[in-house]
Amino acid sequence: MLLMNLLSAKNLSHSFEYELFSDVSLEVHPKESIAIVGMSGSGKSTLLHLLSTLLTPKKGDVFLFGENIKAMKKKRLAEIKRNDLGLVFQSHYLFKGFSALENLEVSQILSQGVIDKELLVKLDIEHCIHQKVTELSGGQQQRVSIARVLTKQPRLIFADEPTGNLDTKTASDVMELFFEYLDHNNAAMILVTHDETLAYMCDRVYKLENKELVQVK
Ligand SMILES: Nc1ncnc2c1ncn2[C@@H]1O[C@H](COP(=O)(O)OP(=O)(O)O)[C@@H](O)[C@H]1O
Ligand SMILES: [Mg+2]
Repeated sequence: MLLMNLLSAKNLSHSFEYELFSDVSLEVHPKESIAIVGMSGSGKSTLLHLLSTLLTPKKGDVFLFGENIKAMKKKRLAEIKRNDLGLVFQSHYLFKGFSALENLEVSQILSQGVIDKELLVKLDIEHCIHQKVTELSGGQQQRVSIARVLTKQPRLIFADEPTGNLDTKTASDVMELFFEYLDHNNAAMILVTHDETLAYMCDRVYKLENKELVQVK
């Protein structure tokens, strides 16, 4: 292998009541940003769950940093999840009873990450960092979960509509922040979005349609 893939998916298929998609393959290298678009219900979130180890593929394989997730010991998988994967999903999964800062500290402690003051300023959450997350707006909570993920310093970011609660300008600023992070950390991002403008900011764009993942950029 010339250049190690951060992620490689081979011939993935998935069905619930009916087949959602089949034979999906994808390679992801350091510094790359990849967007997945498609109609609601096309299976974007399910595919992201498969790629990020939240679901185990029944058909096909997912390799993270060269290792097949099916062959990994539980402990190794937990270690990779804790240290190397950053998940920003629609439901924020923030610890509700705690302040924004305490939520970031969890990442800092568990993954030996770094809370970057400048990042908080860029995300415009430095002024509300001591407030409980339940007191924050949807948009602020979303930015706290983005800060939390970046604090972890993951090698792979999986984001499902991470900017869904943000206005256009803030959303595109957040995208720039992600790109800067990927570049500085040799990391990669797979982003699911219905927003074509945000998708086309990424290096590659794929559309999930008619059970296939087709590259459109
Ligand atoms: N855990 C599940 N059990 C059964 N059906 C599911 C489950 N998760 C998703 N689905 C169905 O699979 C389809 C694709 O869902 P999803 O991956 O969330 O699509 P998207 O993110 O593109 O909107 C939908 O029809 C949804 O109802
Ligand atoms: Mg979805």
